[in-house]
Formats: sequence, structure tokens, C-alpha cells
Amino acid sequence: MTVPARIQERADALRELLHHHAHQYYVLDTPEIPDAEYDRLFRELQELEETHPELLTPDSPTQRVGGRALEGFAKVRHKVPMLSIRTETDIEATGARNFDARVRRELGLKEADAPIEYVAELKFDGLAISLRYEAGVLVQAATRGDGEIGEDVTQNIRTVGQVPLRLRDAPAVLEVRGEVFMRRDDFERLNELQREKIAKGAKNEKTFVNPRNAAAGAVRQLDPAIARQRPLSFFAYGWGQIEGGPAFDTHHSVLMALKAWGFPVSDRITVARGADDLIAYHQAVGRDRDALPFDIDGVVYKVNSLALQKQLGFVTREPRWAVAHKFPAQEQLTTVESIDVYVGRTGKLTPVARLQPVFVGGVTVTNATLHNEDEARRKDVRVGDTVIVRRAGDVIPEVVAVVPEKRQAASQVFTMPRTCPVCGSEAVREEGEADYRCTGGLFCSAQRKHAILHFAQRRALDIEGLGEKLVDQMVEAGVIRTLPDLYRLGLANLVTLERMGEKSAQNVLAALEKSKHTTLPRFLYGLGIRHVGESTARDLARHFGQLDPIMEASVERLLEVPDVGPIVAESLHAFFQQPHNREVIEQLRACGVQWEEGPPAVQAPKPLSGKTVVLTGTLPTLSREEAKEMLESAGAKVAGSVSKKTDYVVAGAEAGSKLDKARELGVAVLDEDGLRGLLAG
Ligand code: IVH
Repeated sequence: MTVPARIQERADALRELLHHHAHQYYVLDTPEIPDAEYDRLFRELQELEETHPELLTPDSPTQRVGGRALEGFAKVRHKVPMLSIRTETDIEATGARNFDARVRRELGLKEADAPIEYVAELKFDGLAISLRYEAGVLVQAATRGDGEIGEDVTQNIRTVGQVPLRLRDAPAVLEVRGEVFMRRDDFERLNELQREKIAKGAKNEKTFVNPRNAAAGAVRQLDPAIARQRPLSFFAYGWGQIEGGPAFDTHHSVLMALKAWGFPVSDRITVARGADDLIAYHQAVGRDRDALPFDIDGVVYKVNSLALQKQLGFVTREPRWAVAHKFPAQEQLTTVESIDVYVGRTGKLTPVARLQPVFVGGVTVTNATLHNEDEARRKDVRVGDTVIVRRAGDVIPEVVAVVPEKRQAASQVFTMPRTCPVCGSEAVREEGEADYRCTGGLFCSAQRKHAILHFAQRRALDIEGLGEKLVDQMVEAGVIRTLPDLYRLGLANLVTLERMGEKSAQNVLAALEKSKHTTLPRFLYGLGIRHVGESTARDLARHFGQLDPIMEASVERLLEVPDVGPIVAESLHAFFQQPHNREVIEQLRACGVQWEEGPPAVQAPKPLSGKTVVLTGTLPTLSREEAKEMLESAGAKVAGSVSKKTDYVVAGAEAGSKLDKARELGVAVLDEDGLRGLLAG
């Protein structure tokens, strides 16, 4: 039977594509499409080959497990092959029931027979590794490669803190199998570092698409010194060769032994009886998936009894005693409909990709931030592009990469606008900064809206009912230009707004009235000074007690506040130097915004700071010690000898050479009364 040309062509095209993407994924660690998309293409080819077996070629991607060994690493032949598991996607209860039914059928069990015991595990999303210990010493670590031959990555794996280098009381030969992966927090930190390196002009650096690729890249990094800088973790879930150890009869007991020998074994591993327990496990893990500190792409069920495993055996390279059930993908393809520029409270311009809605990681995503110009450039995201969108854990959805072969010829490079898209003011990017900012300040209605919303929020002035819609309307209608305008609103202004009845208007006015009684930290925070968050606002209020000294403080004085550094101090100083900001504060106070001022924790500058005083002779009522203390507490330095730097000499009875010297140098001489006068200012 001949295969229709159309189908032959499709199969060829699919093989070509899959070869390309497998190379990107396994060899270059730079996938261009999400796994889910790769799986779809793979399944399509598999189905074509199943219906038309004549199509099958020995080099078809469907005939290979995993990747190919990398050039540059020594090859390792696995003593016991590293197998793959049958993987099923997007199935809940039916998947577990089908698996259980298959196993029972293979074992010839009847309905009345007892349920089968399984071990349910997480399916870690990393890289399979085989660790070989001889006489308790790690002698080799290898990747899976094609299952028969992997790469010797011992040097790099030695840098993984969780992999024991030496074991106590372990069998003579022990091969442990498990997953090397990167935790999400480590991944975010690594990418942050990578971005910094790129920003500083490093040429051969890139950010990683996801933790799995970062982990794979680290393990197969030719330079162990670089691998060392990439934080990896490890979980054991299986074994290869074991010689000279205790006998085991269940999968679970081996895992517990591995744990006792010092290997990390996930504590989410559980023994399940029958399909119902598996379903419950699948559901519980699905619920907790986002909260885990690392990515998983599903769960794995394994028959617990090693005797039954042996009886079940293998089909091609997959054991009949195990199955993986994948969760919905955390990466999907979608297209970019437009790139909008969002103007934030501080005028920061952020490019945002508006996406064709896509269901990924459990939510529908419609837009994703491109962060700033450099990021948008680096990813070269363009309108019309097909992109990979990732949403894992509680991390905000992100465009991780563009699929280059799907780009339209006419697409245009994205550039940040040089003017604010809202108010048209110039947008500038300052030296050393990643962001463009609109220079319009409160002239810019976008900044004005954000400033008002920030001021009104619960953690600031807490103006109930003053939400986004209302602020939008008030700013658009021109009823409000500055913060004090809020307190000048009257019923007449409010009721002109759309959908604002008299009752709601009354409520808004009441909320505004109530908000006037606030606290200094809330007020400070509400002003929206750049770099001044709630905790800085609290520190400032505690340190200065009152608003005026904060407004008058020099950068140096501001730096005296615990936790206030140069950036915050400069920002505060610059803010209060602006006449229009002082005006706003003045007007807010005039409108009745008030708080209780505390005692200033820091005294006004001392009257004699910087002055040097010398005491000589005997004063009529004050002892030398008393005089010294009074002077010092007024900030003066009390010195022992007179010089040109001396500001005053305080002389009593029987003053000697010091008094002469003072006269000689023309230094002011005081008696006790003079001293008291000086101290009193
Ligand atoms: S067992 C014979 N258990 O999933 C069974 N694999 O094809 C061998 N994986 O890349 C694998 N978590 O690295 C097993 N708890 C787990 C796993 C797991 C992740 C990976 C494994 C391989 C793929 C299975």
C-alpha cells in the first residue's frame, strides 16, 4: 500500500521540525517552542506512523528516547539502561483508572482481588541523572543521553550541594537515579544576574527560558567553574545497579534507604492503594503545584512491589509498572496583538505585550510585561509575533521567547516612544537607568491618576470608595488636578460625574472628611515620593517626629535615619526642594489634613556645635567638671590648650598662661556669666 504524497510530505516536515527542535532543546538548551507544542508535533508524527507503518524510518525522532550525547563530554554506557515512562497529558481520574486497570489486567487480577499498592511521586521538571557510587564514593555522574549512552558530567554534578560525595554504610556499588533541577527562586536570581551581565555589555550571556533549561544548561556546561555558579538541587526517585546491599521488596523501601544513605527524597512521596488514592494524590498535588518551590510537570505512579514490577516488565523502553500524568502546561504559544506602553505613578514607561488570550498555568493570560526597552529589545518581541508565554507558580506571566520561524516578513522592531503616550511630554532615560520616564509629572494625567490612587489607598490616606473608575472620571473631567483638589470637591462637582448619584457622592465626601485625620507615616507614604515605601515612611516619622524637620532636612540629616541610604535620602531631599510639592503639602494642611506630631526624636542642632572652648582658672560657682559637661552637652568641644582654633576661653580666678595666650591670639574671653549667656544662646 502506498502512502498518499500529502501524508508522506507531512511526515517528512514533522521529522524535520522535530529534529530541529530536539537539537535546540537537548543540545543547545535554547528551546524555541514550548514542550506542549513539541509534544503535539511528536504525537502527530507518532499517529501518522501508526496508521502508515511504511512511513517509519529508523532515524525518526519517535524512535529515540531523550537527547543525544553532547560533543565535549566523555560518553558513558549505562550498566542498566535509563528508561523513559509512558506519559499521558491532561487526564485526571480516567488516567489513573486506566493505568490501574491495565496493571490489574496484565497481572491477571480479578475484580474481587485486593487493590494494588502504588507509590505516587512528583514528576520533577529537570534533568535525569544517574549517580554511581563505588565503596560509598561518588565516582561518576551521567546524563540519560539516549538511555543507553549518556554524558559524563561528574565534574559539574560534584558542584551540586545536595548530591552526597561520600556515603556511609552504603552498598559496594550503588547507582542512584534522580532529577537535577533548579528551584524557582534560584532561577529568578540567576536570570536577574544574567540580565545584569547583559546590561553591562557581556556578549556571550543569555537569560534562561525556564528553570529546567537553566538546570540542563548548568549540568552540561563544559566549564565546571561556570556550572558552580548555577544553583542546582536534586531529588532521588530510583536506582540502577545495586550490589552488595540489603535486599528490598518494594520501591518505597528503596527510596527510604536512599534517604537514610543521605540522598534528598521528596516528602511528597506517598504509598497509594488503588486508583482512588492515585486520583486523590493527583488532585492534591495539582492544588499545591503553584506553592511548591520548584517546577513539576505532573505526577508519577509506580507499582510498589518489586516482584510485581518484574512480572509486568517493559514495552519497548517504557516499564508497564509506571506512568506519568502531566499537568496542563505552564508554557503555551500565542500571538502578540499589540505592544502598549503603560505609564506608572512615577512616570515610568513600561512596554506591555497584549496577547491573544491563552490558557496557561491555570489562568487565562491576556497581557505580559516586557519590563523595559532593553528587555523588549533583547527578546525582540514584535507585534504579530508568535511567542512562548510562561506562567509558573505565582510568578507573573512572562513572554519568554519569540518563535523566529513564525515571524511575519513585514514585522517591525519595537522601539520605546520618545514621548509619553498619555500626555505627550518628553520621555527620558537617564544614564545608568533601565527605564524611560515621562517628564510630565503631575501634568501627565496618567501620573496624576496614579498619584491620587496611591494617596487614597488603604495603606495611605484610606479614602474609602475612591477607586480607579472614579479617579479616572474625575481626572478626565478636570475636576481634580492636584491632591488638595480632592478636599475641595463639593456635592455639585461630584454629581456631574457619570453614574454618581447623590447618595454615593455623599459617601465619597464623608470618606474624604474622615481621611483628614491621619498619621504622619500614612501621609508621608501617600505623597508617593520615589523610593519611599511604607516602612521608610515609618522610619522617617519615628526619627523626626514631625513633618517640618523632614521637609527641611539636608541629605546628611536624612542619612542619619536608620535604613535610609543615599538613593532614598536624595529622592526625599529633591522632592521637598520642589516648590510645587511644598505647595501641595501646604494646601493639604490648609484643607484640614492633620496628624498628631510626636516629639522630635532628634534635637535641633546644638547651639555650640563645632565650637572649641578652653576652661582656665576657678569659676565662682561652677566646678571645672560642671562647666565642661554643660559645654559638651551644648555640642562644644572642650580643649586643654589655647590655639588659633579656640573660639572661647572661659576664665575664672587665678587664670594663668592660657588667659595670656588668648589675649595674644585675640580669642574671645568670657567669665562665668558670659558662659551662661553663651549656653542660653
Ligand atoms: S521514574 C523507569 N520518577 O521524567 C522509570 N522519573 O521519562 C524512570 N522524572 O526524564 C523514571 N520525576 O527524569 C521517574 N518521580 C519521578 C520523576 C521522573 C521526573 C523524569 C525523568 C525522565 C522522565 C521520565
